[in-house]
Amino acid sequence: MITFAVITCSDTRSEKEDTAGALLRELIADQGWQCAAYDVVKDERPEIAAAIVRAADESKVDVVLTCGGTGLSLRDVTPEATRDVCEREVPGIAEGMRAHSLSITPRAMLSRALSMQRGTTLVINLPGSKKAAQENWDGIVEVLPHAVSMMHGGGH
Ligand code: MTE
Repeated sequence: MITFAVITCSDTRSEKEDTAGALLRELIADQGWQCAAYDVVKDERPEIAAAIVRAADESKVDVVLTCGGTGLSLRDVTPEATRDVCEREVPGIAEGMRAHSLSITPRAMLSRALSMQRGTTLVINLPGSKKAAQENWDGIVEVLPHAVSMMHGGGH
């Protein structure tokens, strides 16, 4: 069982309008995994960082999926907030998402998404549209069990 938090980062979206966040929670449940925490926060670096810390340190989830705020607008600060509160980068996950997404759209280049570890929590930035969230999830879902097992000291 893998536990998740979904954190939607958006200036405009409320919980009700957050179709990408709802989809991610469905995709988690479809795998038989659990979404233990869900938050919608503004595109404010300290707010996003605090939500990641809550999910990792209080909810103690294995994986935090952020959704949105990875683009080039100056309000897009999710990668910066992620870097503020995580120690180690896991570049292959972000590279894998972009490689998978580039076979669908060249606009995948416009996501600055990071993947990083805060202790034994893996934080993965996903873009904010429902379509992009689905496609990026599709690119990484198969490696998540092994990633989580390795974070908790499992071997290969
Ligand atoms: N990745 C996939 N797979 N599919 C998409 O449609 N959209 C791109 C990119 N990544 C997209 C994608 C676009 S248009 C943008 S601007 C960036 O994600 C950033 O999105 P965000 O600002 O919502 O995080």
